[in-house]
Amino acid sequence: MSSHGTPIAMTSSPCGPLTGVAEVPGDKSISHRALILGAMAVGETRIDGLLEGEDVLDTARAMRALGAEVIDHGGGSYSVFGVGVGGFAEPDSVIDCGNSGTGVRLIMGAVATSPISVTFTGDASLNGRPMARVTDPLALFGARAVGRSGGRLPMTLVGAADPVPVRYRVPVPSAQVKSAVLLAGLNAPGETVVIEREATRDHSERMLAGFGAHIRTEMTDEGRVITLTGQPELRPQTIAVPRDPSSAAFPVCAALIVPGSDVLVPGIGLNPTRAGLFTTLREMGADLVYENMREEGGEPVADLRARFSPDLAGIDVPPERAASMIDEYPVLSVVAAFARGVTRMAGVAELRVKESDRIAAMADGLRANGVTVEDGPDWWAVTGLGQGKVPGGATVASHLDHRIAMSFMVLGMAAAAPVALDDGSPIATSFPIFTRLMGALGARISSAPQAG
Ligand code: S3P
Repeated sequence: MSSHGTPIAMTSSPCGPLTGVAEVPGDKSISHRALILGAMAVGETRIDGLLEGEDVLDTARAMRALGAEVIDHGGGSYSVFGVGVGGFAEPDSVIDCGNSGTGVRLIMGAVATSPISVTFTGDASLNGRPMARVTDPLALFGARAVGRSGGRLPMTLVGAADPVPVRYRVPVPSAQVKSAVLLAGLNAPGETVVIEREATRDHSERMLAGFGAHIRTEMTDEGRVITLTGQPELRPQTIAVPRDPSSAAFPVCAALIVPGSDVLVPGIGLNPTRAGLFTTLREMGADLVYENMREEGGEPVADLRARFSPDLAGIDVPPERAASMIDEYPVLSVVAAFARGVTRMAGVAELRVKESDRIAAMADGLRANGVTVEDGPDWWAVTGLGQGKVPGGATVASHLDHRIAMSFMVLGMAAAAPVALDDGSPIATSFPIFTRLMGALGARISSAPQAG
């Protein structure tokens, strides 16, 4: 099921110290890519630790609809029997990607250079998000897209029968756009080149190399230049999905602001294209330690130990760090409310086109809970009140956005009065065990399904 089920009202009440071990689920970005590349390889790809959130399960269903076999062995262990590059079959019906921008944009790329028509839809959030950022470069390969006004879903993509390779400079910092172009390039003859000015998460590049594609990245004056040779035979892989740093952000940030807390979050990927939040928190004075640093599956991994940090200070978060923590600004803004001084976040226009307008959603909810927030088109600033000084007490809207929902539940743990949420059901898209996991650490979150 996608995130258009029954709304779930939630309340997070002030709690005692958070303590214990928080085993967060598998990485969402890597889980989507493992399923899609597994479906484009020939033979059986084994995946362990797949995130079983709605976003990723929607991508698994899409891969089945396109002809791959996806077998659930239980406990996050999956097999994907792929159809090979160029082997996708035209689906019988519409592909519903639920809430997932990553799912729909990557799958559009993957089908764009096959001679099939695929119609995509999603929930109210996804159907409002811009798709021209992927359909524009996919048109250069020869694919055609017809959607609603403003380039929005539902949309039909007619894949190119005779695709040509492209050279494309990504105009916005977006790993989804970069990845869509690379996946389309897989079934185009010759070399497809993607240029990005700022480094975004590089899971696609790493995984394509793992599956045996010829891909190389050069740093030039233009930025990162990624060159992929088309029409490889992808070799099936065994993939152990690391735990998601974007999910780890919630127990880590909660521990920093709830007095007396001491939480260990083991096995978190610290790929530099993802770890910007943790650098920022340490600059703010967080007691956040990397323990047991190691390498797993080619990625740096550590156990994160986060303890209550009474002396957090607001900082200017450098704009060039934005891509490496783009999904973490909502929860950072909650931590900023408990710091002393102003935290300024610049160069973040992309936050306005995520699952919700995340600047507006957080600014409205923080203001309702007694925190001063200023914002402009591509920046915002939170004036911290210091530990123990955030009033709370308001009801906020999640806007069908999992990260907005979880961020406000973290706020409620350390505010003076409970924070209520209209609908926490979107949390299931990326972190289905959030409430249980936070409850086991000591959080007090209650949920009540709303009559439809
Ligand atoms: C993702 C890229 C980011 C991020 C999203 C996951 C990915 O989106 O916000 O949650 O897996 O490629 P953009 O590419 O739009 O920045």
